[in-house]
Amino acid sequence: MSKLTFDGIAYNRTAEESVLDCLTRHGVVVPNSCRSGICQSCMLRAVSDDPPAAAQKGLKETQKEQRYFLACSCIPSGDFEATSELPQLTRTSAQVRAVEKISPAIARVRLDYSRPFDYRPGQFLNLYRPDGLIRTYSIASVPQFEDFIELHVQRTEQGRMSRWVHEELKSGDLVHISAPLGECYYRPGNTEQPILMVGTGSGLAPLYGVLRDALRAKHSAPIWLYHGSRTRDGLYLIDELRSLAREYENFRYFPCLSRESGYEAFLAARANDAALTEHKNLKGWRVFIAGHADMVGATKKRVFLAGASLGDIHSDAFLLARN
Ligand code: FES
Repeated sequence: MSKLTFDGIAYNRTAEESVLDCLTRHGVVVPNSCRSGICQSCMLRAVSDDPPAAAQKGLKETQKEQRYFLACSCIPSGDFEATSELPQLTRTSAQVRAVEKISPAIARVRLDYSRPFDYRPGQFLNLYRPDGLIRTYSIASVPQFEDFIELHVQRTEQGRMSRWVHEELKSGDLVHISAPLGECYYRPGNTEQPILMVGTGSGLAPLYGVLRDALRAKHSAPIWLYHGSRTRDGLYLIDELRSLAREYENFRYFPCLSRESGYEAFLAARANDAALTEHKNLKGWRVFIAGHADMVGATKKRVFLAGASLGDIHSDAFLLARN
């Protein structure tokens, strides 16, 4: 048992417990969402000792220097002191412009935001509900095309945030958002490099942003997008993507259904299976993968084995929140 001091109060912590688990067990409320070191919503700051390196994965160098860390990934080796005071972290307010159901499962949320808010299509942000609940969503909008931020929120039965968005959030409401995070976005240049995109469910959001950013940047090599869902309800933006495929001859779009058959217009397969059956050699390709963490992890391995280099594989993995 070691001592964890948080905002001046000492708590007992077991050797295997993360800072987040310890504080939660003692009834201390720390914002969190993914509990996997991805969303950065559980960020705290160490008072004197440096946090373990694993707890600073994905943070900016300036944040590391100031001993910021992620409480869900932080298992100190002994006594440790932390604070919730984070002078550099910014949260900004945003006003809901529109909430629109674009499929039975997906709500498209458009937010008006105050500038400057520099983001790349495909990055993600944390959305804060007024009661403090936090969830992470990827950005589908492209700032050069749209003066709002667009998020796609997939409804899940146990999802407190997603049910609230689908059932209660409306135009004019105020929410807060974090600064944009994440590395899953289009890097300009090398426009001759073919691109493969694989996504499931609302994993289409970052891919839709990345795709339009690449087309805007006149990416001339072929771009293949495979979007999958178990059932027809989970496929969306079909008309928009088909229209882009007609407009840009280097873009090809394949909607995929893995559990429902009888639709001639869709491939009857998982998106990653369909993509890797068609593309067996990915040497020299750029690959974007977004969706549930299990699918993303498995697909990353497969595209790497098919020849894509690690530096060319960009991914955005979603986890269902545990609270
Ligand atoms: S990074 Fe800790 S809860 Fe998401």
